[in-house]
Amino acid sequence: MPLALPHLTTAHGLTRTTILELFQSAEEYYTRLRIGTKRFDVLQGISVVLAFFENSTRTRMSFEIAAKRLSAEITGFQASASSVNKGETLLDTIRNIEAMHVDVLVMRHSSSGAHEFLRRHAGCRIVNAGDGQHEHPTQALLDAFTLTRKFGHLEGLKYCLVGDILHSRVARSNIPIFKALGAEVAVCAPGTLLPKDIASFGVKTFSDIDTAVAWADAMNVLRIQFERQDQGLIPTIREYTEWFGVKDHHLRLKPNIAILHPGPINRGIELEAIVADAAQSLILPQVEHGVAIRMAVLTALANDIRATRH
Ligand code: NCD
Repeated sequence: MPLALPHLTTAHGLTRTTILELFQSAEEYYTRLRIGTKRFDVLQGISVVLAFFENSTRTRMSFEIAAKRLSAEITGFQASASSVNKGETLLDTIRNIEAMHVDVLVMRHSSSGAHEFLRRHAGCRIVNAGDGQHEHPTQALLDAFTLTRKFGHLEGLKYCLVGDILHSRVARSNIPIFKALGAEVAVCAPGTLLPKDIASFGVKTFSDIDTAVAWADAMNVLRIQFERQDQGLIPTIREYTEWFGVKDHHLRLKPNIAILHPGPINRGIELEAIVADAAQSLILPQVEHGVAIRMAVLTALANDIRATRH
């Protein structure tokens, strides 16, 4: 039986088996894309709406390319040019989209929990492309896929997320997925950029970058989210970089470490420019893997749509 998923709103609850099945499917797509295959008919007859209510470059393009490669019928929805600006509620907007017989809604929204709400109230399939400070499950899947391809598996891998954990939906989805795959997970951040309930995440914490690098096999370096910083949580950017930035000398100390970053990068702030371009950096492979992962996710949704249509 091929993997069938009704929705993908959260990384919590995805089992190791489900994740590995998604990786197997992504690996097949990755290989076919690499040899130049551009079209698969898996989503033929399935309509996908891409609704991005928040800025995005990579994630939006990645979902669009993934859906196109799979031959879906795609509609882009520009929130800035929509009636959302005239005061329409999210549910009304989505009900109108649904009335046009949409099968899958891929959405990014600034409101944490928007997808869970729609999953309960909307009739179409919901894929979370980022909700506020809450979750970003496909980013976490592509991060884990990238490191699985590098290390063979994640069992026992020492994996550290560094930076603005408090505002990071990437961290909140990464932690359950890496734990489900058997990695040892840590976070490294100033106390002010850690969530108050960090103890309930079941992760190790580091408060300086040198100790974290010495411990880790792989680091996921998160962006300082300037747009979500309004309470002066870090004294100055220069000090943040000094204490938490990943630098060239860290790579010399740990030549086999793998460096991830979900993008967009603030070069010179959370990591030195030279680190982003170093041999240890998997930042561009992450982007390449993102398309394959999103194709695997959309395929699993299509399998469920077909199973319930018959
Ligand atoms: C992330 C996001 O938007 O959540 N980027 C991404 O999706 N590639 C991380 C970020 O904005 O820092």
